[in-house]
Amino acid sequence: MDTISDRLDKSVGAETSGAPVVRFENVTKRIGGKTIIDGLTLDIAPGQVFGFLGPNGSGKTTTIRMMVGLMAISEGDIRICGSSISRDFERAVAPVGAIVENPEMYGYMSGYANLMQYARMRPDISKARIDEVVDFIGLKGRIRDKVRTYSLGMRQRLGVAQAILHRPKLLILDEPTNGLDPQGIRELRDYLRELTRREGTTVFVSSHLLSEMELMCDTVAIIQGGKLIDVRKLNGAEAAASVHEVAFDVGDPALAAEKLGVGAVRDGLLIVQADREQSAAINARLVEAGIPVYGIRTIKRSLEDQFLEMTGGGTIV
Ligand SMILES: Nc1ncnc2c1ncn2[C@@H]1O[C@H](COP(=O)(O)OP(=O)(O)O)[C@@H](O)[C@H]1O
Ligand SMILES: [Mg+2]
Repeated sequence: MDTISDRLDKSVGAETSGAPVVRFENVTKRIGGKTIIDGLTLDIAPGQVFGFLGPNGSGKTTTIRMMVGLMAISEGDIRICGSSISRDFERAVAPVGAIVENPEMYGYMSGYANLMQYARMRPDISKARIDEVVDFIGLKGRIRDKVRTYSLGMRQRLGVAQAILHRPKLLILDEPTNGLDPQGIRELRDYLRELTRREGTTVFVSSHLLSEMELMCDTVAIIQGGKLIDVRKLNGAEAAASVHEVAFDVGDPALAAEKLGVGAVRDGLLIVQADREQSAAINARLVEAGIPVYGIRTIKRSLEDQFLEMTGGGTIV
């Protein structure tokens, strides 16, 4: 039988297979003697929605501006699909689609005309591709209307449509949920997911709202004061293997803790730090020791608790 660490190694290997789409190598940004981004090192595996979470002023936009070459990197490098942003800019940004500031859209033109205008500036975007993207993004019914009649959510969809016309491997969106209502956020989440599924696009989204990141992302990196604090998988094998507090409702929790040699008693329950497999193993040992188990519950801390704990609380909106 595999040991827990064997399985962990395998699952981690499987999850990160494929070269990273983005590789931050000790990225530092200084402006006027102030360090805005401090030694950011991070790999982003392909085919996922990756969240870049941090309070306002933590350096999300600065990082994104460096990723798309709008701002020089003071130290370190960013590689996109293996190419260096600072040394091989054209090649590095070729597979990127991004909305960093408000996308340039002409209000007096229709959504379709805006996309056509943009497509003419890039090679290899067919009319069929434009229609496909318009359909995908849910703007079909309004694409012939002038952009100035669009709601914020529709403008954003048009921006995303434009950004994905050339089938980028990486789509970067800076705080895409800002100003959207809950329905709009849900739709954004759905089509970003669908984009990774259908076209294999890796999506990099920033946000200061962790509840939204929690719903939207496969992995979340947390940044504060320009420093990477933590990276967490929210779905998949690695998340299942993560350690939680597990509460065992047993006949005699004090005796159980003594027999196991681990855990503590709280509120009449045996509390143990364990991952999924370890919980099952503990359960088996309790039963073997003749201690009846009436219930097992994982006390899952939300990302919010973890985030507040990590950032010292109070800094998040
Ligand atoms: N051009 C600039 N000059 C000086 N300071 C800047 C500049 N751009 C950003 N900053 C500072 O860098 C920090 C991070 O900003 P930013 O990247 O916009 O954060 P976020 O997008 O996470 O809200 C802030 O303290 C901000 O004031
Ligand atoms: Mg910002």
